[in-house]
Amino acid sequence: MKLPADFYRPLAIGAPEPIRQLPVVPERMIHFFPPHLPKVRDKVPELVGQVDVLLGNLEDAIPAEAKDAARAGFIEVARAVDFKDTGLWTRINALNSPWVLDDLFQIVAAIGGKLDVVMLPKVEGPWDIHYLDQLLAQLEARHQVRKPILIHAILETAQGVKNVNDIACASPRMHGMSLGPADLAASRGMKTTRVGGGHPSYGVLEDARADGAPRTLFQQDLWHYTVARMVDACLASGIRAFYGPFGDFKDEPACEAQFRNAFLLGCVGAWSLHPTQITIAKRVFSPEVKDVLFAKRILEAMPDGSGAVMLDGKMQDDATWKQAKVIVDLARLVAKRDPDLAAAYGFA
Ligand code: GLV
Ligand code: MG
Repeated sequence: MKLPADFYRPLAIGAPEPIRQLPVVPERMIHFFPPHLPKVRDKVPELVGQVDVLLGNLEDAIPAEAKDAARAGFIEVARAVDFKDTGLWTRINALNSPWVLDDLFQIVAAIGGKLDVVMLPKVEGPWDIHYLDQLLAQLEARHQVRKPILIHAILETAQGVKNVNDIACASPRMHGMSLGPADLAASRGMKTTRVGGGHPSYGVLEDARADGAPRTLFQQDLWHYTVARMVDACLASGIRAFYGPFGDFKDEPACEAQFRNAFLLGCVGAWSLHPTQITIAKRVFSPEVKDVLFAKRILEAMPDGSGAVMLDGKMQDDATWKQAKVIVDLARLVAKRDPDLAAAYGFA
């Protein structure tokens, strides 16, 4: 077992000190782009400021013959663009793939100082995080990277879900976790062919009626259990939880419902794979104006956060004060990026 005293020690001589507090920034959408396509690369500067995080994808969905071009394209765009407040992430290939060493060696060497987060797919247990943690420290030391590059795990294997608590607290480099419903469905033997979302056959049938009338099947959420486990594991370790991809780009209401369930359960953001999903994520993961206004009233009614008051006939106490604070803190964060919302929340 690693001694607690060593937890925050750099893992290589010359590597930066690990962080103790995650940067407080909105991360409502992690917008994926395929960096091997020149047309897509050309559009990246327009996305700066429009999305909270831009992620160059090197893993699944990038064809094997385009892996080198994707890596080179990501480096090119990362060098050329000023990302300002927008986070710069990459999803590297899996640790057992033939591409991952080149991904890490070339990217940290070329743009390590600009890279905020490495997203690691197919994480099975804390050993995967420890390996990447050590390797990143060595590369940071070699290339004089001054700010630690954080790790974001994708929760997308049955074993990963079994080990989710240990993954969440494996390293001070842990930024958070995303649910990967497509790989997870395959790994678990779920009988679906979708990327996230519900399934019309997964439901609860209402009781039989005396008159023999047709019974309704109420569709259930396939992902509730995993998202809830992931949120508890992440929040217990002070890191962030995200819903991952939603594959049916045309079904915007279903995407919105999936994102909203994740938001209500504790996630801070989701992946956007298509421009329409940027808009959906912005709407869902920015707290609703009416909720913010009510939460502000709770905080104002209980300035020291204790005791009990009635507001519009509803009891408020120390615990609802804390819930209100979660909403108002998020609203303040979002307001810094979005002047319209700042005005609507009453912060302008
Ligand atoms: C994402 O990587 C997924 O497998 O859903
Ligand atoms: Mg996956």
